[in-house]
Amino acid sequence: MAIERTLSIIKPDAVAKNVIGQIYTRFESAGLKVVAARMAQLSRAEAEGFYAVHRERPFFKDLVDFMVSGPVMIQVLEGEGAIAKNRDLMGATDPKKAEKGTIRADFADSIDANAVHGSDGEDTAKNEIAYFFPALNVYSR
Ligand code: PPS
Repeated sequence: MAIERTLSIIKPDAVAKNVIGQIYTRFESAGLKVVAARMAQLSRAEAEGFYAVHRERPFFKDLVDFMVSGPVMIQVLEGEGAIAKNRDLMGATDPKKAEKGTIRADFADSIDANAVHGSDGEDTAKNEIAYFFPALNVYSR
């Protein structure tokens, strides 16, 4: 399997719960390496730009409001099949539907405050990494 890079965000709810370290442990235990990271308070423009593909969705405003409600931890994860592996670790978007032992099942409270974001494909990963880490403009080596 190819070595990939993917973008991960630990969202404001999980940062507020003080579980950044526990989430990083899950990445590392699954063989994903943190190759870039920064904590940020997103501006509304940054959050709207990041989620621009969802602009027409009914939850867009709620999603942006939530993402600017507190600091987030943004990281690039690298490893074999990193994109799918991170999605598996995250679990389903709605924590009520997420498999036991996934990050969302264990740390998220609702579909609005669902603890983590992860790129959903190669193109998305490339674009999302470039969005937050313009000097690291690759999704695989
Ligand atoms: S996907 O991958 O596009 O199919 O994901 P999707 O389930 O459509 O959701 C896209 C992002 O929107 C968030 N989301 C919501 N936010 C607030 N309220 C509601 N009801 C809601 N439904 C979905 C979801 O968490 C996704 O955000 P990210 O950051 O990508 O996880």
